Amino acid sequence: MSSKDTHTREAFPTDAPAVVTCGLPYANGDLHIGHLRTYVGGDVYSRALESLGQETAFVCGSDMHGTPIAVQAIQEDVDPEAFALEWHEQYGETFPKFDVDFDNYGHTHDETNRELTYEIVDRLESEGYVYEKEIKVAWDPVDEQPLPDRYVEGTCPYCGAHARGDECDEGCGRHLEPGEIEDPVSTISGNPAEYRDRAHKFFRVSELSEYLDGFLDRLEGTSNARNQPRQWLEDGLQDWCITRDLDWGFDYPGEDDLVLYVWVDAPIEYIASTKQYTERVGADEYDWEEAWRDDGEIVHVIGRDIIQHHTIFWPAMLHVADFAEPRAVMASGFMTLDGQGFSTSRDRAVWAREYLDEGFHPDLLRYYLATNGGFQQDVDFSWEKFRDRVNNELVGTVGNFLYRSLLFAHRNFEGTPEAEVSPEVEARIEEAIADFEAGVNDYSVRQVGTATVELARFGNEYIQREEPWNLLGEDDEAAAQVIRDCVQIAKAVAVLFEPIAPGTSEELWDQLHEDGSVHDVTTDAALEAPPRDFGAPEELYEKIEDERVEELNEKLESRVAEAAADATGADADADETESDEGEGDAESAMSDIEPVADDRISFDEFQDLDLRVGEIVDAEGIEGADELVRLTVDIGVEERQIVAGLKQLHDVESLPGTRVVIVANLEKAELFGVESNGMVLAAGEDADLLTTHGDSSLGTTIR
Ligand code: 2FM
Ligand code: ZN
Repeated sequence: MSSKDTHTREAFPTDAPAVVTCGLPYANGDLHIGHLRTYVGGDVYSRALESLGQETAFVCGSDMHGTPIAVQAIQEDVDPEAFALEWHEQYGETFPKFDVDFDNYGHTHDETNRELTYEIVDRLESEGYVYEKEIKVAWDPVDEQPLPDRYVEGTCPYCGAHARGDECDEGCGRHLEPGEIEDPVSTISGNPAEYRDRAHKFFRVSELSEYLDGFLDRLEGTSNARNQPRQWLEDGLQDWCITRDLDWGFDYPGEDDLVLYVWVDAPIEYIASTKQYTERVGADEYDWEEAWRDDGEIVHVIGRDIIQHHTIFWPAMLHVADFAEPRAVMASGFMTLDGQGFSTSRDRAVWAREYLDEGFHPDLLRYYLATNGGFQQDVDFSWEKFRDRVNNELVGTVGNFLYRSLLFAHRNFEGTPEAEVSPEVEARIEEAIADFEAGVNDYSVRQVGTATVELARFGNEYIQREEPWNLLGEDDEAAAQVIRDCVQIAKAVAVLFEPIAPGTSEELWDQLHEDGSVHDVTTDAALEAPPRDFGAPEELYEKIEDERVEELNEKLESRVAEAAADATGADADADETESDEGEGDAESAMSDIEPVADDRISFDEFQDLDLRVGEIVDAEGIEGADELVRLTVDIGVEERQIVAGLKQLHDVESLPGTRVVIVANLEKAELFGVESNGMVLAAGEDADLLTTHGDSSLGTTIR
């Protein structure tokens, strides 16, 4: 099914006001470039909608409640409100530095959000969707205090991974309800927790399955956000506990000792922030009620870890409280740094501020984040990859085309030559506009960016093909035609690249001596004639040298090493204590074993592996290869040819009949000219073959 088939609504632009929101960041720590992916994605998307002429509000705010704030405020021994406000202010300053230009950036603890939250909770109550129930909550028996959400950690009851009280963050990613986590331990005191009975409020989400089923049929956006919730619906929805034993947050109406669960008031801030925007600009300019109470085009841009909240709980609340339902959810993949996770505690991150302090233009990072892969795919950042994309695409393709064309135009024609744009170039610009528009309607920020880079690539090919430098003096009219076309392409680049690279597009707009701001024009402007005169252009993008990359890598490495040394210092102290208790020998016995990888993969990533039970039915050495054996492995549904390095470690003739475990969906490879279609799993230097110990039939999936 092509993504086109997933459209259920009228294509953008529509007559209704749009709201683009980004997942609210918890106001509890420094932002790194991994965090910026969602915010840049949301900003690109909202600018692109505006470029299509769609009336759009782009809103967000800081998430100030909940245990992510309370736990850290306790650790730093400060008041949670003051703690969160300080980070809130810092985020409010950081986002604009990356041209993430929210129309309103509020926070969840303000009055607007409080009023709207109570309005919605009252409505859930009055419609009969809230009831009270006794449940078991984690409790610290020594400190005599309840341990909601992140006050507790333990084992996920679904996948067995280590998990936080509210979410299986290292395993299957499920949202965990109070009382679900196993082997609970307090994150504050380290005390083993027990469970006690407490009365809490529940939202009858289970009664909304039918509505949510229809909602998911209508929902647009990335496929992960549309498909994952299907499974939760099929598994049967549980009612949702909407209160917590916590003294930070909005009090639950009429209950002194309960606050609202952070995930109730957090998304309501999307509405509150839009309302604040209207209060500032006036309802004639943007009417929040038309957007949220009538038929707005609501697009949520989030990280994939919070799909459940945005496709189940949130639309359920909106539905009962009679607000508009989201049109689309765009859920981004995760980001890694040099193939591993970002780690705040190990200082293994490229911090947002650090990136700017290094003197890089925000547009370079915006381009990288928005176009390095599909929005829902995981993206890796490394300074090398960043350099390559900047040098090859921004400098080599976009910048090169703009500079050479505009310099030629300036030197030989003092600006835009008098001519009409040729039909070929007009058609190519129209194609770029169509690609851009399709990118918006397919929720692909990458396509929004590549539409322009491809246009610039065409521009380079065109000028190279037409060689205007050889036409000058021979056929001035023909030379003027080519350059007229190139200036039009340059103008189209300014217009269409604005969502991705707002800063450099504005510079280009000014270089062309255009009036006003490129931020205010729509895609039609790409085909309107540029001004007659303009001056000498300046290069928009600067090459990143290899030495710079080396320097940045060294900085990162030494920072991580320093943080590790600090941590090892702490560990060394701990080890001393341990060896006092006789643990030292165990440690030295373990020293030959490779340390277990620090970086966890998600349950989804694990599920991507297709591991099967197989049986070797034939084995023969590969001529000329010292170690390689050609195996034929029966996996029930088919026989696979697999090449494995077993020749010197096993008696090849005795291999047939051996039960093995294979990776069935590994990409094919060719070894010594022989195709290998899968991999046989084996342990260690001796290639000890993995097998099964029961009667599982051939082809059985291993989980
Ligand atoms: O997961 C988080 O970081 C939350 N602070 C996101 C909230 S998004 C919204 F719905 F409120
Ligand atoms: Zn889990």
